[in-house]
Amino acid sequence: MTPSRVPDQATPGNRLAARFLRISAIWLFVGVLLGTYMGVTHDHVDKQIHVHGNLLGWASCALFAAFHRLWPSASESMAGRLHFWLHNIGLLSLVAGLALVARGNATAAPLLGAGSLLLVAACAVFLDVVWRATGHAN
Ligand code: HEM
Ligand code: HEM
Repeated sequence: MTPSRVPDQATPGNRLAARFLRISAIWLFVGVLLGTYMGVTHDHVDKQIHVHGNLLGWASCALFAAFHRLWPSASESMAGRLHFWLHNIGLLSLVAGLALVARGNATAAPLLGAGSLLLVAACAVFLDVVWRATGHAN
């Protein structure tokens, strides 16, 4: 019997793209859930989580997934995987820090700072990954 859904070939590029896409779909779900909650209750204390979860979680991770589908060779490098972890750990720290700071917990500021630095480091690694992957096209 023919399976109704044929999974894509499990190449390294597809695996990293799939990971990014799955995590982006989770962020979209969390983001619209929170957006709806904010709209219904008019409680916008977690607006920054909504914004950064949707933009750095859903939009950015979906773009990273598309990038890895288009340039699968980039995913075979350590840097490709490092970028995934730096971005996601950074984003989790950022939203946790934003949530705590928004509730007046000033001691959580270092968590926010650590998340920011991890995200900046992730962007630097991504810059390197993009440059290496697209260099031959110049
Ligand atoms: C069911 C879906 C969604 C609902 C109900 C929703 C609801 C909201 C609400 C209530 C605010 C706060 C507005 C304010 O405090 O002034 C907001 C802000 C925002 N949302 Fe959403 N949202 C949704 C989906 C999204 C998505 C998918 C994205 C991005 C991909 C997004 C991006 C933003 C941004 C950037 C802001 C900040 C805008 C600003 O302050 O100028 N939202 N949203
Ligand atoms: C290390 C990365 C980032 C950090 C630490 C950060 C931090 C912040 C903080 C603290 C605010 C609140 C400003 C305020 O309330 O006055 C803010 C607002 C905002 N950020 Fe970021 N951000 C980062 C990256 C990004 C990125 C990459 C995007 C878009 C792709 C983004 C989109 C926004 C938007 C749309 C707002 C305005 C939300 C509003 O209307 O309140 N941020 N960010």
